[in-house]
Amino acid sequence: MSPESTTKQWHVMIEPEAIAGRVREMGAQITADYQGRPLRLVGVLKGAWIFLADLIRAIDLEDVSVDFLGVSSYGNESRSSGEVKITKDLDMSIEGVDVLIVEDILDTGETFHYLTGVLQAARPRSLKVATLLDKTSRRTRPVKADYAGFVIPDEFVVGYGLDFGQKYRQLPAVCVLRSAEKQGATIAPQVQIFRRKEDS
Ligand code: IMP
Ligand code: MG
Repeated sequence: MSPESTTKQWHVMIEPEAIAGRVREMGAQITADYQGRPLRLVGVLKGAWIFLADLIRAIDLEDVSVDFLGVSSYGNESRSSGEVKITKDLDMSIEGVDVLIVEDILDTGETFHYLTGVLQAARPRSLKVATLLDKTSRRTRPVKADYAGFVIPDEFVVGYGLDFGQKYRQLPAVCVLRSAEKQGATIAPQVQIFRRKEDS
């Protein structure tokens, strides 16, 4: 991301180096928790695909497989409709399998609630959820991620896989979209910027 990005429609909330560091930590935690067990990562399309690609390379287990679920909950708006629709089903059965759902962001919790219900019915051995971002303040469901990368304020964010109207997924940082203001999302004047922790 170039320094001139301040003149663009977004500003950086979480720098790429901070994302990379946190993803490594999450991978180490998942590696420790699933020692000796086959693990199935279920990526939620489309937002989680970049996170999943990085997370899987931070997991040091022998047997890790991947499947994807397509879910749409927003259309092109920046506020959840509360309606969740499956647009692509799993390719493989999860019966008796240790499943880790990989999500880009946990917002109201409606998608999480719906997905865990649907997947639980397919009788996995265990079911946990990893999310890169967690907007804890916006919950309409009392759900909690097992692994959460960053707790962020109520801002509409894009980049690192997350979109607004299918755009901005390619940005390497997690960014706050300035034009989201026009769409009714609130933008705080001072946004916390997550930077990589100093190596100590
Ligand atoms: P929830 O059902 O309200 O928890 O919303 C979860 C889904 O909404 C996420 O998987 C995203 O696809 C989308 N979403 C929620 N907040 C944002 C955001 O700030 N930027 C981009 N997508 C978001
Ligand atoms: Mg999503």
